Amino acid sequence: MPKVVVVYLSTSGNTKAMADAIVEGAISRNVDAISMNFHEAKIEDLKSADAIAVGSSTFHYKILPPMEKFIESLSKLNAKDKVGAAFGSYGWSGEAPGLIAEKMRAIGMKVIDPVLRVQYAPAEKDLEECKRLGKDLANKLKKA
Ligand SMILES: Cc1cc2nc3c(=O)[nH]c(=O)nc-3n(C[C@H](O)[C@H](O)[C@H](O)COP(=O)(O)O)c2cc1C
Repeated sequence: MPKVVVVYLSTSGNTKAMADAIVEGAISRNVDAISMNFHEAKIEDLKSADAIAVGSSTFHYKILPPMEKFIESLSKLNAKDKVGAAFGSYGWSGEAPGLIAEKMRAIGMKVIDPVLRVQYAPAEKDLEECKRLGKDLANKLKKA
């Protein structure tokens, strides 16, 4: 079964709620999907993933450095064979998802365009969009 791994950095749960909805959407399309905090993400989980979605909220117009390092570490995998997606909650400028997508593309991943951004806590309609992204990822894997 194709596998989607969703990795997030979330300080107050907003981006985590998006991650969980992405997983829900993917599972509804019959692929294996799991979300995890980036601190807990193990290389084995990522190696076996066909798609990796990375989410982070925006801090001081950027991604926090530990998350930046995590994304760069994806280059150790055969990242070229994997589908990517970037997402995140933000307050007013929301640079993080775009920066994540840029880094993923730099290591050769095929990243779904556009990135998914939600201002502060996701509302029901935002969670529906997150589920949609999970479904899109699953559908891409089935076609591949
Ligand atoms: C110290 C601090 C700095 C922030 N800087 C930005 C910023 O530069 N741009 C932005 O859009 N949001 C900024 N935010 C807002 C967060 O991105 C926003 O609250 C987000 O919903 C947090 O999501 P999370 O719970 O997933 O971490 C900042 C928040 C804090 C606490």
